Amino acid sequence: MTPAVSELVRRLDGLMPDTALVLGSGLGLLVDAVSQAVRIPYADLQGFPGGGVSGHAGEVVAGYLAARPVLVLSGRVHYYEKGNPAAMRVPLETVRALGVSRLVLTNAAGSLRPRMGPGAVMMLSDHINWSGLNPLIGEPTDARFVGMTAAYSPRLQTCFREAATAAEIALHEGVYMWFSGPSFETPAEIRAAGILGADAVGMSTVPEVILARFLGLECAAFSVITNFAAGMTGAELSHDETKHVAPQGGATLARLIAAAFAREDFAP
Ligand code: HPA
Repeated sequence: MTPAVSELVRRLDGLMPDTALVLGSGLGLLVDAVSQAVRIPYADLQGFPGGGVSGHAGEVVAGYLAARPVLVLSGRVHYYEKGNPAAMRVPLETVRALGVSRLVLTNAAGSLRPRMGPGAVMMLSDHINWSGLNPLIGEPTDARFVGMTAAYSPRLQTCFREAATAAEIALHEGVYMWFSGPSFETPAEIRAAGILGADAVGMSTVPEVILARFLGLECAAFSVITNFAAGMTGAELSHDETKHVAPQGGATLARLIAAAFAREDFAP
């Protein structure tokens, strides 16, 4: 057992989470939905990242969401912080070692679809990684050849889709394209992304999904749309806008997650 795993086992005091959540920029409000919350700062967990992006807290929050035992990774590290695509490897390995088998990832993203504006929630059906980066580069064994055909669990997608319909929540679905950031995309890059098949663009999630599939976690991921992508409206993009707009869609996403977690078919 790694030091981070044993520290969490001690602090969780018998709680056995089966699902973990990774929160995106400005989506810290999802933590408010966790009941009987135990908060453990990343600083207390060996190997966890230091964090440092405003809008990202840097703590593990354990507790119950819709009666389901969960672990929330509130605060992610991005590739653009230190240039490490495997920055979230220790947190993901740690939740796996604790018995978590499902991972729900969230992010803030820019939309390429005129009819999917700020405040909308998009479930990822797939992703495009044309960054040339991969968190498994350097991984020494054949386990690095991870299949990505069903990276976003078709079973979980059905579950979230049905939960959205039942709760009358508008849920978009589409392809997320990862850009390294931290600068935003150019209008030309966005036009290229659209030709390639992207519906939304952002600076996270993809390396984590690759690591999660490597670790055998079942994944679902959601973008909260904070803006139209570069060049679509003429407005300049900013992280301030991301942080301010994310909580709007975040509230919708929190309802959707609670509705899905309450379903019996979420964890068969
Ligand atoms: N591009 C990349 N990342 C983002 C965006 C965007 O337009 N909006 C929020 N995160």
